[in-house]
This record gives sequence, C-alpha cells and structure tokens, in this order.
Amino acid sequence: MARKRVSVCFVCLGNICRSPTADGVFHKLIQVAGLESQVFIDSAGTAAYHAGEEADRRSRQVAKTRGYRLDSIARQFLAEDFERFDYVLAMDQQNLRDLEELRRVTSEEVRGHLGLFRDFDASAGSGAGVPDPYYGGEGGFEEVLDQCERACEGLIEHLMQHELAPRPTQG
Ligand code: 4NP
Repeated sequence: MARKRVSVCFVCLGNICRSPTADGVFHKLIQVAGLESQVFIDSAGTAAYHAGEEADRRSRQVAKTRGYRLDSIARQFLAEDFERFDYVLAMDQQNLRDLEELRRVTSEEVRGHLGLFRDFDASAGSGAGVPDPYYGGEGGFEEVLDQCERACEGLIEHLMQHELAPRPTQG
C-alpha cells in the first residue's frame, strides 16, 4: 500500500498566538494518532512584525496546562508557500482575505486547499474564525485553545478519510 503524505500550514496575523497554538495542538494529536510520518505541519503569519520570535508567553503557558508544547518560531507566509502546502488554513476571515490577495498579486497557483481552519470545527457556524487574543485577557487564550482542539480533531478526521486512507500501489 502506498502511504500518502500531506502538508498543512496554519496562518494567522502575527504567527505568535493562534497559528502556533493550532500547530502545537495538531502536532500532539497527529503524534497520538501515529500519523507523524505522514503529516508535515507548519505555521506562518500574514505579517512579519514578530518574525523570529517564539510563540507568545501567554499562549505557551495556557497550552502547557493541557500538555501541548508550542515550538514555533514566527515567520511570514510567502507566496511560494501556496506551492508547498496541501492545506493552507486561515485563522480568521481577514487572514483569508490577505492570503487571497497575496495569491492574486503574485499570480501564485494554490496547489491544494485554501480556507478557514474552523471549517473543520464541527461546533462552529459557517465562516467562523479564531478570535485574535493578543490584546485581551487570559480567557481569550483558553478560548483559542478550545477552538484549536476541536478544529484539529475535525481536521484529523477529514485527512484520515480523504487524504491518508491507504490506496493500492500503482502497477
Ligand atoms: P496572532 O495574534 O495573529 O494570533 O499571532 C497577534 C499577534 C500580534 C499582533 C496581532 C495579533 N500584533 O499586532 O502585534
């Protein structure tokens, strides 16, 4: 049987709060599911303000209480990333618009799926985003983590059904 590989990039504005949380949660759930050799995971920001920085201390702290490590170093999403990833998942509608604009001005082909991360959260309504917690209180970071857990679970189910199911080798 051929084992397929799939690549996923989570994208927010600064790449220090929401997308590193999604990245850390997804790493853990993929590892627990025994799929780490089949899934490449990364995250990025539409802006470069925080490039080179670790995830926000508050995000790391809240994640740690639930057993997640956030190891990302912030970087800006580049047009060529559209070519590199099967799934480019925006945290909110503004992030998605910025990605669509980047694709438009660079004429980059999207190889895979470009959409909202919370489309994979079964409890979320259509078009729901992960709210930016940066300027708010501690509760916002907990809420981000809850939403990331649910959307990551849905994303794993989707990948197992549509991308990672074993297929017979050709020839
Ligand atoms: P993130 O949160 O997009 O979830 O990483 C933010 C981080 C930094 C800023 C805004 C949002 N900022 O304006 O610096």
